[in-house]
Amino acid sequence: MSIGILLPGQADFVAWRQQARRLLAAAVPPEQVEWRVVGDPPGLFGGAPLPAEAAPVTASVPRAFLDQAEVAIRHRDPERFALLYRILWRIVRGEHGLMQVATDADIVRLQAMTKAVRRDAHKMHAFLRFRGIEMPARSVEGEAGSPEAAGPDSPGERYVAWFEPDHHILEAETGFFIRRFAALRWSILTPEASAHWDGETLRMGAGGSRAEAPSEDAHEELWRAYYRSIFNPARMKPAAMRAEMPVKYWKNLPEARDIPRLMAEAPQRVAEMVARGATPAAERRQRFVQPAAPPAVAEGMPADLFSQIDDPATAMAALRAEMTARPDLPEWTRAATQMVFGEGPIGAPLLFVGEQPGDEEDLAGRPFVGPAGRMFDRAATEAGIDRPAAYVTNAVKHFKFKPTGRRRLHESPNAGDITWYRPFLKREIELVAPRLVVSLGATALRALTGKPLAITKVRGELIETADGLRVFPTVHPSYLLRLPDPESKEREYARFVADLRAAQREVA
Ligand code: URA
Repeated sequence: MSIGILLPGQADFVAWRQQARRLLAAAVPPEQVEWRVVGDPPGLFGGAPLPAEAAPVTASVPRAFLDQAEVAIRHRDPERFALLYRILWRIVRGEHGLMQVATDADIVRLQAMTKAVRRDAHKMHAFLRFRGIEMPARSVEGEAGSPEAAGPDSPGERYVAWFEPDHHILEAETGFFIRRFAALRWSILTPEASAHWDGETLRMGAGGSRAEAPSEDAHEELWRAYYRSIFNPARMKPAAMRAEMPVKYWKNLPEARDIPRLMAEAPQRVAEMVARGATPAAERRQRFVQPAAPPAVAEGMPADLFSQIDDPATAMAALRAEMTARPDLPEWTRAATQMVFGEGPIGAPLLFVGEQPGDEEDLAGRPFVGPAGRMFDRAATEAGIDRPAAYVTNAVKHFKFKPTGRRRLHESPNAGDITWYRPFLKREIELVAPRLVVSLGATALRALTGKPLAITKVRGELIETADGLRVFPTVHPSYLLRLPDPESKEREYARFVADLRAAQREVA
């Protein structure tokens, strides 16, 4: 006779575990168990209830099984409960090393399920888009103070997203969105269930429909304009784009509306770029004489919306967009041509931090391309460092200067400037995840350690910061440019190369 087990939810691991323990205690073999979830149609036989005296047992089970089972239970395959119980049964009945048997059919299936659920969660983190809506005040008297006041339809601003996960992942993934958007009020609607966060408590509710979620909001245009601006027709890789951003998610992504056109226009744009060649420097400078106004940003825009992406390259592009759009950028940045963000590969073993872009960097929009950059490149090459394989950035991302006649004189960033950019630098470094950070000069060292350390005291010594970064301090290349006599120039240049070589050895 089969035993029928009814679970209260599609992905209720705690309930499944409780029932599995009772089944083990009653020595019910897996083939005799019929698993169902509340709301499922009754099975062919229904199954008898488990005898009440079958109290749960505590069996010793490998952590690897529990970890995977907790994820795999969210898979939509109705057979998942039975599979998990069968594996548990086999382990408890003597196959203690079963989790290590990568060729076992049950383990292969468990791993495939875990992988599919994790992938689904990853896509949800990357492709879910909140849209802001203003919930109207309700006219029903006395409701404002009711327990429903903070519910999904309470008045005020709320962010709503529509998402269609492949598996039962919504409840498990709410933690990710609560951490990211703790201070906002949001709702995630899926066909099967919905989640509502009011800044303090999470409520799970019934499923919804796409029509119930807004399809556009005030930030849409900003995001689309940003996406169009970073779309590089010369680097277009349609197959990789489709693999990373499957077409099924496009309907919820504001930028997706532009992708077909951008792709179609790409060959023509590349041809034009080639035909145009380089713009002469003088002409470029003329185009930039007007101070750049910071881009318009909707008041109260939650900048953090952009950082809900967990693919590092996309997250980096989003970080850059977020910085560009910050309404609280220091006032002096309005005079700069543009923000100069870091460049180099994600995962670069070496990451260099300079002070701030100079005049040429400001015009080119790239770090270390002016005189200090050329000095840096020469020394790095001599030290055996391949610059394109390293990540190069600055503590402060705008050129701070004093206009004097036709020249723009470099002005050092102050402690407040360094502090303002510091959290962004930290996020940038976290996304690159280098093995070693090389600080070039005092500003970079201060930005990395949070302290005004003297370079002369710590130069060449590995410092571990409170954030767990390994920092190797050396001088800024512009220091070499300022030295007055050829002998000290030569001596200090050799020391700088030796420092870079030591840094390179650290990651070799
Ligand atoms: N100096 C810096 O610190 N960074 C640059 O990008 C250029 C000069």
